[in-house]
Amino acid sequence: MITQGSLSAGLEMRLDGKQSVENLRVGRFVVIEGENNRFFSMLTDVSLSSSNASVMLNPPANDAFLMSVLSGTTTFGTVKLQPMLMLTKDQEERELRPVKTIPSHFSPVYEADAQDFALVFGDENEPGQAFFNIGQPLNMDVPVCINLNRFIERSNGIFGKSGTGKSFLNRILLSGVIAKDLASVLIFDMHNEYGWQAMSENKSAPRVKGLKQLFGANVVVFSLDAESSKARGIPDARELYIGYNQIEIEDLDLLKNELALSEATLENAYIARERLGQDWISALLDMTGEEIEEFTVSFKGHPTALKTLQRRLNTVVQKTPYLRPRVSHNYIEEILSQIKAGKNVVLEFGRQNNLLSYMLATNIITRRIHADYVRQSERHICDPENVRAPRKLMIVIEEAHKFLAPQVARQTIFGIIAREMRKYFVTLLIVDQRPSGIDPEILSQIGTRVTALLNDDKDIDAVFTGVSGSQTLRTVLAQMDPKQQALVLGYAVPMPVVVRTRSFDTDFYKAVAASQYGDSLNADWRELASGSPDEKRKLQEKAEQAISELFPDD
Ligand SMILES: Nc1ncnc2c1ncn2[C@@H]1O[C@H](COP(=O)(O)OP(=O)(O)O)[C@@H](O)[C@H]1O
Ligand SMILES: [Mg+2]
Repeated sequence: MITQGSLSAGLEMRLDGKQSVENLRVGRFVVIEGENNRFFSMLTDVSLSSSNASVMLNPPANDAFLMSVLSGTTTFGTVKLQPMLMLTKDQEERELRPVKTIPSHFSPVYEADAQDFALVFGDENEPGQAFFNIGQPLNMDVPVCINLNRFIERSNGIFGKSGTGKSFLNRILLSGVIAKDLASVLIFDMHNEYGWQAMSENKSAPRVKGLKQLFGANVVVFSLDAESSKARGIPDARELYIGYNQIEIEDLDLLKNELALSEATLENAYIARERLGQDWISALLDMTGEEIEEFTVSFKGHPTALKTLQRRLNTVVQKTPYLRPRVSHNYIEEILSQIKAGKNVVLEFGRQNNLLSYMLATNIITRRIHADYVRQSERHICDPENVRAPRKLMIVIEEAHKFLAPQVARQTIFGIIAREMRKYFVTLLIVDQRPSGIDPEILSQIGTRVTALLNDDKDIDAVFTGVSGSQTLRTVLAQMDPKQQALVLGYAVPMPVVVRTRSFDTDFYKAVAASQYGDSLNADWRELASGSPDEKRKLQEKAEQAISELFPDD
């Protein structure tokens, strides 16, 4: 029962003598039954207390009988709770609200049950809604859902140190968005793990499916390394090349650290571009040392800086085989038309997954796509009756801190997208193991944060940028398991919650397939509604058969 506390600092409860503190775990979801309200709360700390200081001075060593007598009365567990939401018991207005008061003394506290979870986090089967099961609470087998309609409205982040399950979580969330057809996703897939098969550390199921395997023609794979994609057996992966002339100085600016480019060198890039025109990179790469010196005599510029720039550009070209002096076909346009057609795109880097190569292609492509979205959106805003809004797009990037560091976030296209939010129907899903490297202003724009274990204090602070009352949640985050657990907080969930992430396995594939075929099956069902139970059973068997053929247990 509740013994003390305040709205600002959270509540304290005394544990019933029959319950062991050892069974309680930080992060659990509990319900406080107040007089007029129910308070949905999170367990944030556990401690040992006693009502009599002399017991502590003379502990009942080895006396099991005495210990059991004292337990629950003189010695007891104290638990800290943070109320997150309240629900008035008044039947008229059954609506979850932010907590504005606290329960009275001695209000009883219970563990949340399946109904409480469904009430707060939504029920997957609720028609017309987009609740999606992402896992289970720490100590129960009931689904915890997030609201995907809200999820796609803002930019989101998946954080956690390496090996905690970020990529798996990402696949689960993306599967939800694709299955419910809420937006298109464009994934810059640095490690080739979203399109086709990916590896798992789990020995009994060493391979997991990629999105193209789950969603077939709804997912289109583009590859910057066709050879590697072919070798991995991806059917109809499309090649993609980028021309030197598609590189802009902004791209080089982003790669300043990777390429050790000084401001002076970059300034010379502007001069070269101005004088040599659109194909300046090709032209500069072909110049001899003498020609460079002549250039600086005729125009402005510094010969040493230009030579450095030439060397750096040579490095770029060597590290990125997808770059061609000129490309006749506009591949980025092709990605755009897939998205406009409602498809989802995975861009694989194959063996071209060094950071430089990843950042360059990701930046160039996103800039083009964003420019197109701005045009489409503006046309729509001017004439909403006749021009449809562009298809919502969620862009997934990894190593996000490289694109969103405070030094670069102001200029880069990703900083722009994160800050302008969904104005142009484009949002980001950033995946990162070092959130402290991201500009705090960008972090505070992140709608929903899904965070697996982080150890570094700076990273933990970063995740909570702009979150009120985060002190208590820090303890929760620090106590999570190193794998397959996540703290979800923000716009897509009504209150913060810790989940054991849903397993990405054969059951998941089947559930996704079932939900996709659900609509057509439902139509058949309605037709058969008047049919005999026997006929209904036959239909169900048919559906299950179809699904298991689709996903044999391999
Ligand atoms: N939801 C999940 N379902 C199944 N296995 C998981 C899940 N989350 C994590 N794992 C296991 O943990 C390993 C690491 O997860 P991964 O997503 O690759 O980590 P990260 O991307 O954070 O480095 C996986 O190879 C897998 O074995
Ligand atoms: Mg990963």
